[in-house]
Amino acid sequence: MFALVLVGGFGTRLRPLTEHTPKQMLPICGVPMIEWVASHLADHGIQEIGLALGYRPDAFRAAYPDGRIAGIPYKVAVEPEARGTAGAVRFAALEMQLKEPFLVLNGDVLTDLDIGALIEFHRKSHAEATIALQVVADPSRFGVVTTKDNGQVREFIEKPPAEASPSNTINAGTYVLNPSVIDRIPDTRPVSIERETFPEMALAGTLYAMKSDTYWLDTGTPEQFLEANLDVLHGRRQNKPELPLAAVEATAQVEDSVIGTGSHIDAQAIVKRSVLFNGCRISKGARVIDSVLSDDVYVGEGATIEGSVIGLGERIEAGVQLVDQTWPAP
Ligand code: GDD
Ligand code: MG
Repeated sequence: MFALVLVGGFGTRLRPLTEHTPKQMLPICGVPMIEWVASHLADHGIQEIGLALGYRPDAFRAAYPDGRIAGIPYKVAVEPEARGTAGAVRFAALEMQLKEPFLVLNGDVLTDLDIGALIEFHRKSHAEATIALQVVADPSRFGVVTTKDNGQVREFIEKPPAEASPSNTINAGTYVLNPSVIDRIPDTRPVSIERETFPEMALAGTLYAMKSDTYWLDTGTPEQFLEANLDVLHGRRQNKPELPLAAVEATAQVEDSVIGTGSHIDAQAIVKRSVLFNGCRISKGARVIDSVLSDDVYVGEGATIEGSVIGLGERIEAGVQLVDQTWPAP
C-alpha cells in the first residue's frame, strides 16, 4: 500500500528549532525524524512513500537527492500554500494519482504500530477510512474519539477542552483512506481532516478505528521532542541508531542526553536530560538541563540553561541563566 506522509506543517510549537528546518527533519538521536517514520513503514512492507510538503520543501529534497529515504523511494507534492491536513491529502493524492486505498501518516509521530493489522482491520470492516487509536493520560492536545464495539466511530472531536473530553482514546495520526475520501474534501480553502472530514464521516457512519497499545509519541512540542530522543536513547523503541560522536571531557557529567556530532562538553560542565544538535560547545562549569539546543550553540562558562529551547547558532554568554525560556524569544 502507498503511504502518504504529511510533513508540511510549520512546526510552530518547536520554534526556534523549526525556524530553519522543518519539524520532520529535526534529529532524533542524530537521525532525521522522517527516516524513523520511513523505516517503520519499510519494516511493515511499504515500498513507496509520498511526502505532502509545504513549509521548507527543499530541506527534504536536499537531504535525499537520490530519491530514497531510509531505502524507500519517495515522491513529493508541494502545496503552493498551506492547505490544512485534509487539503494536503487531497492535493497530494490527486498529484500522485492515487486510485487505491492508501495510508496517511502524521509525519511527526513515532510509533511501533502494526500497520498490517490496521490495513487488515480496514478491509474487514468495509470502512471508508480507518484510523489508529491510542490511549493517553491527557487527551486535550489530540483528536478524541469514541467508538462502538465494532470499531465504528461515534464521535471525533479535535482538541476538546480537558473537562469536556468524552474519552482518553485519541487519534494516533495513522489512517487508511479509500480514494472516495478525497471527494469529500473541498478544494477552495484549507481543510482540516480532524475538524471537518473525520467528524463528517463519523456522522455518516463510514469511519472506523482500531485501538493499539504499542509505543507511540507525537514529537511536536519541546517536551515531547526531548522525550522522543530519550526513548530512542534508552531503547524504548524497537530500532536503535548509532549514536552521534561528541567529545566529552573526563570531568564533565553527561546523563540521559543525546549530544550531536562535533559537539564538545568542557570540564566540569553538566548536561542532563537534554538534546544537543551538532557542533555545540558547552564551556567549563556550565549546566544544561531539560533543554534542547539546535546546531552550533555556544554556552559560556558557568552559564545555566534549564527547561529551555535554544535556536541555531545562538551564543549564551558566561554566567547567564536561562530558565524555561525559548531563545531567541519568539
Ligand atoms: N502538507 C501539509 N500541509 N502538512 C501539514 C499541514 C498542511 O497544511 N498542516 C499540518 N501538517 C502536518 C504536520 O507537519 C504534521 O506532520 C501533521 O500534519 C499533523 O499536524 P500537527 O500540527 O502535528 O497536528 P497535532 O499534533 O496538533 O494534531 C494531530 O496529531 C495528533 C496525533 O499526533 C491531529 O491529527 C490530532 O487529531 C492527533 O491526535
Ligand atoms: Mg503533531
